[in-house]
Amino acid sequence: MEPEPQSTGRRRKPKPTRRYSGVVPLKEPPRRLTPDLPPLVPHGLRPILNPERLLAVMTDTTDTTRGIEVEPSDPAADTAAVFDLLGGLVVAQILRALAALRIADHLADGPLTAEELAEREGSHPQATYRLMRAAASSGLLSYEGRRRFALTGRGRLLRSGVPGSLRSLVLTQTGHAHWQAWAHFPEAVRQGATQTRKALGADIFEYFARPENADEAALFAQAMGDLSGLVTRGAVSAVSTVGVSTVVDVGGSNGDFVLALMEADPQLSGQVLDLPHAVEGARGEAAKRGLSDRFHAVAGDFFAEVPPADLYLLKTILHDWDDTQCAVILRNCRSAVNEGGRVLVVETVIGEIGEPDFATRADMTMLAMTNGMERDLDEFDALFAASGWRRSRTYPVGGGYFGMELLAV
Ligand SMILES: C[S@@+](CC[C@H](N)C(=O)[O-])C[C@H]1O[C@@H](n2cnc3c(N)ncnc32)[C@H](O)[C@@H]1O
Repeated sequence: MEPEPQSTGRRRKPKPTRRYSGVVPLKEPPRRLTPDLPPLVPHGLRPILNPERLLAVMTDTTDTTRGIEVEPSDPAADTAAVFDLLGGLVVAQILRALAALRIADHLADGPLTAEELAEREGSHPQATYRLMRAAASSGLLSYEGRRRFALTGRGRLLRSGVPGSLRSLVLTQTGHAHWQAWAHFPEAVRQGATQTRKALGADIFEYFARPENADEAALFAQAMGDLSGLVTRGAVSAVSTVGVSTVVDVGGSNGDFVLALMEADPQLSGQVLDLPHAVEGARGEAAKRGLSDRFHAVAGDFFAEVPPADLYLLKTILHDWDDTQCAVILRNCRSAVNEGGRVLVVETVIGEIGEPDFATRADMTMLAMTNGMERDLDEFDALFAASGWRRSRTYPVGGGYFGMELLAV
């Protein structure tokens, strides 16, 4: 018997009775501000009669319009917290400038003064010093005195070409395509659809396919490959390839995932199915790893068809598309899968509302950039059921991502 679908270990959506932080349910009817003064307007709305009363209303913790009592909070701390959140915008640009000016690469051999670094990079010395000082405030560099800065553990992640590097991801997520799309974000929320067409004149994958955007597309593919590095080891060790001879990495980009599986199992033949502009990188990567004889790159469209396989890899693909489009991809896999074959979906999974959650932020990126979304387990299961699959095994694979194995029904 197949094992039951497993949970990600994360709790599901909260029940409707859930309390939101900062408010507590009212045990008694709302206390009136001045007991001798009857309410002058219906529905508990309080009239503001004079400055004293205005002050009282402002400092009162009873919100009679909603029937809940707002817990007194610390306005100064709240203000600081909102400033801190807003600072994410600036920190993203600090990361971008550090990555673009290769500051982590320059510091790889030891601390430098801002002036030494500016000379190597050809940047403005005082502006470089200010950037490095701000980076030190965010824990990305450490200050060694006398205008010298060194790399911290976080800063080291901005080096290029090292395992675990996040440099390409930083440059992609703060680069032209993403930045332009974010400029239209409120409109994306209003319309429930990405505004990339307005921002870029194309959807994101059409944009990357244009010859004039080849450098940005290559950076994106590199970023995807680097992200794969965070999860492939976990996924490769968790998924069994016993009885599997052909694996197709659907939308596999540079092929990092399928190539890692092929390295772990010398019996496997692997393929990447991706758009024509993307498969060249996969061919090169297979050659670099000496796997060309077992590897095939297929230029195609996963909405049209997918090649037959014993195992399909769908890593960070479903989150790019809406449910209808995902169902087409999953059904194409279902039609082409060999007898007894499986799908391995790797995605982040939305956890409990109100908890810090990488997946909800990733979901905002999906809204800004694509018509896709991050999903919770129930949403995934509904999608699988509608496409001829059911979830069997589920496991964390690292970096906040989960592997979900699907069996044909
Ligand atoms: C978010 S990336 C994921 C890449 C890879 N699976 C990974 O996790 O590193 C999405 C990939 O889907 C590819 N793609 C988009 N539309 C496609 C289509 N219609 N057919 C095949 N591949 C497509 C893109 O070129 C890109 O490589």
